[in-house]
Amino acid sequence: MLDFLLAWESWCRLWSQPFPLDSVELVGIDRSQPALDYARRVSVAFGREVQRWIETRQRVLHESGRDDQEWPGRAWAEQIRSAAATARWEQIDLTRAEQLARGQELARWANVIVVSYVLRELQDAGSGDNLSTVLAAAEPGTLVLLLESGTKDDAG
Ligand SMILES: C[S@@+](CC[C@H](N)C(=O)[O-])C[C@H]1O[C@@H](n2cnc3c(N)ncnc32)[C@H](O)[C@@H]1O
Repeated sequence: MLDFLLAWESWCRLWSQPFPLDSVELVGIDRSQPALDYARRVSVAFGREVQRWIETRQRVLHESGRDDQEWPGRAWAEQIRSAAATARWEQIDLTRAEQLARGQELARWANVIVVSYVLRELQDAGSGDNLSTVLAAAEPGTLVLLLESGTKDDAG
């Protein structure tokens, strides 16, 4: 998600289009603590790489005698780096009715919700409706991206 947001800002500048975001915060949920720990490690590593990229770019601009303020994407890159470092990871099991309220709270808070490769697992557990319950709490205008492999029919 964060790498997409970083690239999106660059594309907007490249094509002189307005970029619609001015801040970003990331909260990820999963029922598995090892999966959450892994996601945290990946996002922290990504944030470090973004930081290295910012520093390298600044150094190269400086060495070539150019003003590092010449890079208008820097502020957004800093935001992405910060969002990666401070992302929150919460253990929520969407098959458990008593945990849905927290999922709904997060859905209400979010502007963008990515449901990534979990729909089929929920359906197999007979909990597809729980996902609908959580998503129904989102505010009107919230963007929901539901990713699933295979065909639409396969994904149910
Ligand atoms: C195929 S993996 C996808 C992982 C990650 N979302 C991604 O796109 O890379 C499916 C994930 O769904 C999680 N999952 C399965 N059932 C779940 C449930 N009832 N509540 C929350 N997460 C669940 C699993 O722990 C696993 O991490």
